[in-house]
Amino acid sequence: MGKILVGGEVCLKGEIPVQGSKNAALPIMAGAILHRGYTVLHNCPRISDVYNMEQMLKDFGAGTRWEGHTLILDCSQICGTAVKEGLCGRMRSSVMLMGSMLGRCGRVQIGYPGGCVIGKRPIDYHLKLFTDMGAAIERKGRQLVLSCKELKGVRHRFPRPSVGATENGILAAVYAREPVILENCAREPEIRHLCAFLRCMGADIEGDGTGSICIAGNSRLHDGEYTIPADRIAAGTLVLSGAVTRGQVSLVGAPREELDELLKVYEKMGGQFSWNGGTLLTDSRRVRNNVGEVTTAVHPGFPTDLQSPLMAVCCTLEGVSRIRETIFEDRFRVAGQLSRMGARIRIMDNEAMVEGPVRLTGCAVRAQDLRGGAALVVAGLAARGQTVVECQEYIERGYESFYEEINLLGGRIVKIDSKT
Ligand code: EPZ
Repeated sequence: MGKILVGGEVCLKGEIPVQGSKNAALPIMAGAILHRGYTVLHNCPRISDVYNMEQMLKDFGAGTRWEGHTLILDCSQICGTAVKEGLCGRMRSSVMLMGSMLGRCGRVQIGYPGGCVIGKRPIDYHLKLFTDMGAAIERKGRQLVLSCKELKGVRHRFPRPSVGATENGILAAVYAREPVILENCAREPEIRHLCAFLRCMGADIEGDGTGSICIAGNSRLHDGEYTIPADRIAAGTLVLSGAVTRGQVSLVGAPREELDELLKVYEKMGGQFSWNGGTLLTDSRRVRNNVGEVTTAVHPGFPTDLQSPLMAVCCTLEGVSRIRETIFEDRFRVAGQLSRMGARIRIMDNEAMVEGPVRLTGCAVRAQDLRGGAALVVAGLAARGQTVVECQEYIERGYESFYEEINLLGGRIVKIDSKT
């Protein structure tokens, strides 16, 4: 495991383009398998989760080629239905291959997904839907084998909105015999992007972005290309990096309609922002107030993926900020690492009370998940002295060039490779 050295007491200033969205790219890449031909994805983030998904597609027989941030996928020939053990466990979104492979081949042998340890993260909603659509599910060693000659149309209501289960259901429904109506769906932007992508390939889907989505089934797909949208979580992380350093950060191509809740919280702490076309201009020179109470929620609520970076900023704000996490049952782990830097955080059930302002002190800390790792960098930017963040590979799962971006804005981050 490598580490990064984060210089403290910096003030970030400047303009940065926002990377392509990890959580949009991954289900779309899984969806490419549905089409017996070419899919071209522009603005694809070059991050380890994308490379893992690319490897799984190649293991199925797909051809892949990169041209800069354009990923060309050729899924004309799919010659296998088993995902190599070990690959699935590296990330959550391997689970998306269940829906697309069931749709394309009627069979998939796959391990349980991995992903950030932020809760139990079962896949019961996914499996229940596939069973309803007629799939048989057997256990084979540590893997599951899902099979179904032809998925049938259903009206299926999820127990609670689940991003992954909604995406998996959409992917499985593309070739279903009759229409599939999914209810109590997640409304995250990534669902709308997946549906827009599938529509551009020829699928007939309505209702994405609402609680009910209807996929016509029996699709006839054709070659297509799609531009991966900007990553709302990477953009939010950069806004919060500017906030913790009281700097002025501009984000080119920030997803304007996907940052509302974050920007409301940013204004509560004293941040000021404006838009100049597609560029978000943020000015954090007046950031100092606590944010009161922030509760994470399904979209359009405050995104759970920005909860840890926000917690890091709250350490530097005046008074007590109360953060309630309602999506994952174990997403406060970074609080322990922030406390090593001097943060004063009390956890009661699913609520974290963050007292500030505290002069954070740089020290050795350990990333334990993707967004928690990003939060440690955010805290290190404001801390006195240097912060050594170990296991930074977690960060590189979702952020393409976070360190370089921070350094371009005036930060001082050095990566120490694990081999040294
Ligand atoms: C997606 O995870 C994202 N990952 C997560 O981002 C994000 O935090 C999450 O959605 C919520 O927005 C990707 O898109 C690759 P869920 P997902 O299914 O699909 C429970 C990041 O940092 N649940 O909406 O796994 C689950 O345990 C990552 O980029 C079940 O109980 O999230 C959780 O409590 C982290 N059974 C809740 O639902 C199921 O079958 C919401 O999970 C499925 C989910």
